[in-house]
Amino acid sequence: MKTIRDFDLRGKKVFIRVDFNVPMENGKILDDTRILEALPTIQYALNSGAKVFLCSHLGRPKGKRIPELSLRPVYEYLKSKIKAPLYFIEDIMSEEAERILSQIKEGEAVLLENIRFYEGETKNDPELSKALVKFAEVYINDAFSVCHRAHASVVGVAELVKEKGIGFLTEKELKYLNRIIGKPERPFYAIVGGSKVSTKIGVLKNLLNKIDKLIIGGAMANTFLYALGYKVGSSMIENEFVETAKEIISKARELDVKIYLPIDAIVERNGEAYLISLEEIEEGDKIYDIGEDTVEYFSAALEGAKTVIWNGPLGYFEKEPFDFGTISLARRVAALSAVTVAGGGDTLSALKKAGVITAFSHTSTAGGAFLEYLEGKDLPGLAVLK
Ligand code: 3PG
Repeated sequence: MKTIRDFDLRGKKVFIRVDFNVPMENGKILDDTRILEALPTIQYALNSGAKVFLCSHLGRPKGKRIPELSLRPVYEYLKSKIKAPLYFIEDIMSEEAERILSQIKEGEAVLLENIRFYEGETKNDPELSKALVKFAEVYINDAFSVCHRAHASVVGVAELVKEKGIGFLTEKELKYLNRIIGKPERPFYAIVGGSKVSTKIGVLKNLLNKIDKLIIGGAMANTFLYALGYKVGSSMIENEFVETAKEIISKARELDVKIYLPIDAIVERNGEAYLISLEEIEEGDKIYDIGEDTVEYFSAALEGAKTVIWNGPLGYFEKEPFDFGTISLARRVAALSAVTVAGGGDTLSALKKAGVITAFSHTSTAGGAFLEYLEGKDLPGLAVLK
């Protein structure tokens, strides 16, 4: 796959698919990570004399112009971040768009309004791709996090362009993920959490062929514990995935991959939090976090790791004291001398809360795409660039 370095960008219209799908509240950006991560590619294109067109989605407006999902606040923010004139195109089909297109100079940039305001985006409509290709003599994908979507700005327009490749952010994401799923340094351990087994089956099954140990936390661990005959009180479990949990346990045995499950828990009982062993779980208890013994047990299991991948929090980390397990283990993982990679929105928020995000070798900006890549799927946004 080519990268942005492989093209002569001077004087050319360079369409960069970025992911500015950032959390926002009343027009205020709550987390600018995705914007900051895209800056090196944008600045490189500008410095190379390109006419840069930035395209992103925000939220899921389903083809409607929803004012709260406008990228205008991102435009205002970006103006202070890039060293070049920046314009905003509200409607790519308008005369204003044509005017900007004919007047834009080398080293200038334009941000297009939320591409999902057009119905054709998520349908990969050829008409929309045709409208977009007028901004694209070179197509660059710097949005690994949307590469699992076969949308017009990710796939359709790229199909129509000859000079296409990836930006520095997508390159960095692939470098770490390929290192992990290709030839990881061993021992290679995975930490998988989050609430549902159902969303992680593909990842778990694929990872089992590659890893040496699997550590499971979060509400999904309840389903595994239940499958092994433990009482989980009134905790969340997915009844219809108990059999899947059993299958994963037996596949792990076959492959000699040791699975680590919680040995104690912090539960909510009558509105209070209690740290208890699994044997002490009562009928109305809700398991919301792993306990201290589990943190020690998991940390011991991680000792000597050379590669660690982490997706999904180990408890209800948004609410104290149920952030204890995720934060404690995050700090232990950060201190390992291993290649440490984490991905997923909640996981990154938890690592931020633990103050260890920069101590990880790589934190992916992707959620869904990160999981699908780990499942071994061919992502359409990448396939089209090959
Ligand atoms: C993400 O937040 O994972 C990406 O921006 C993709 O968003 P989507 O799930 O709405 O397609």
